[in-house]
Amino acid sequence: MDKRFIIVGCGPGSPDLLTLRARDAIERADVVVGSRRLLDTLAAKRGVRHLVLEGDYREILEEVARLEDGSLVAFLVSGDPLLYSLGELIVKKFGRENCEVIPGVSSFQYAFCMLGESWRGYRVLSLHGSEDVDLRRIFEENARLILFLDPEHNPGYIKRSMGSLPEGEYTFHVASNLSMPGERIIRISFDDLDSIPTESLSILIVRKGGA
Ligand SMILES: C[S@@+](CC[C@H](N)C(=O)[O-])C[C@H]1O[C@@H](n2cnc3c(N)ncnc32)[C@H](O)[C@@H]1O
Repeated sequence: MDKRFIIVGCGPGSPDLLTLRARDAIERADVVVGSRRLLDTLAAKRGVRHLVLEGDYREILEEVARLEDGSLVAFLVSGDPLLYSLGELIVKKFGRENCEVIPGVSSFQYAFCMLGESWRGYRVLSLHGSEDVDLRRIFEENARLILFLDPEHNPGYIKRSMGSLPEGEYTFHVASNLSMPGERIIRISFDDLDSIPTESLSILIVRKGGA
């Protein structure tokens, strides 16, 4: 039986980073679910029902579950769909057998391509929406880190939580709005982490020991 739910990894945001398979899924869907940003930039076709993911995501998932007309539903999720993503919840809710999952370029992969560097040896962690995180321990246990941030868990928060670090021991890059207007990837010192404006879509790349 054809799958009724397609979880589409949309990459970091630019339409030209969608895979052909992802584009085809969005074209075929009767209902497209996603953030306002992803719907506006990637699914602007007329005559298709849009459900905007905002507020309590579970309510939207319930609304989708109530659709009884056999419609094909595409969920747009950023980056890769099973990396710190709603994709996981959607598979759980609708069942693996009913879901197709289409991979996408993760925001961190894109950042490393822009830097022209390998991400071998990095640990990927998300602070997005997190509550208690022992950042000091995370830094102690990992010499190379990729951290997904959010407006609250921003570079200034990292500085406040860490207190102090020996000068020059770590290299930091903040990568924001990747592949979209306003893209910015900057190398920054620990001391300056609280001096940059907070972009809601940002990751922090941390490397211990030199450049
Ligand atoms: C819920 S996580 C999803 C990660 C996604 N699955 C991926 O593979 O990139 C959302 C976080 O990803 C990061 N992110 C997603 N798109 C981004 C972009 N275009 N630029 C910078 N960071 C991005 C931000 O840290 C954001 O808070």
